Amino acid sequence: MSTLRLDDLRQYSDMLRSRDGEAITVRFVEPRDADELQSYFRGLTSRSRYNRFLGAMSQLPPTLLDRFIHVGEANQFSVIATMAVDGIETIVGEARYAFNFETSGFEFGLSVDDRWQGHGIGKALLKNLECRAAAFGAERLFGDTLRSNASMIALARKSDYAFANSPGDWKLVRFEKHIDLAPQDIPCASWRLAAASRNVSPAVVAG
Ligand SMILES: CC(C)(COP(=O)(O)OP(=O)(O)OC[C@H]1O[C@@H](n2cnc3c(N)ncnc32)[C@H](O)[C@@H]1OP(=O)(O)O)[C@@H](O)C(=O)NCCC(=O)NCCS
Repeated sequence: MSTLRLDDLRQYSDMLRSRDGEAITVRFVEPRDADELQSYFRGLTSRSRYNRFLGAMSQLPPTLLDRFIHVGEANQFSVIATMAVDGIETIVGEARYAFNFETSGFEFGLSVDDRWQGHGIGKALLKNLECRAAAFGAERLFGDTLRSNASMIALARKSDYAFANSPGDWKLVRFEKHIDLAPQDIPCASWRLAAASRNVSPAVVAG
């Protein structure tokens, strides 16, 4: 289980690659990202937003935006994937996850900007989430998606997730994976830092 330094979030940033080799940075959301994050969600197609939030939403309601930018509250975390687009660092994806210390379950949802879907960013981001989950000491990852969401179902299937009915909602399907991977095979800063601080008592350290 990791100790997370909320006063120094930048150290948990990772560099990933799209299928074509473009560099993608994954880092925790910071309060200064609020406007750009909101623009990112507004810029998604209504279909992608619907799939991401399991319902119609034109933008993040202020209370939800506030939760997104306050990483670590209630053991919930938001990361953004950014890429240099025409020389400007731009949000091309995001993910939000929650770690349940009692069940060791890691629940997540993610999205990729419609203009960048199909470039392997979702797959790379998902691998990164698996490493972040392992750094927490999570035993399983899971998420729920609409049964009609072919893209997410394809991504989960190709990433070796199993499928089951989502509890309580027939419109959703749950994708789930036990963490049986060696995190060093998909290195991320969270895992390296957790390994380095293994002797430190487990806690989320507030800034
Ligand atoms: C689901 C989503 C995150 C996938 O991201 P992405 O970056 O487009 O996915 P990738 O390019 O990494 O593709 C991953 C794999 O899934 C496959 N795939 C993706 N979309 C597909 C589709 N619509 N049909 C068939 N296969 C698809 C890709 O071919 C790829 O397989 P490969 O590695 O064998 O080539 C993206 O479509 C999205 O943001 N959707 C809107 C929000 C959403 O639905 N979020 C999920 C809520 S939990």
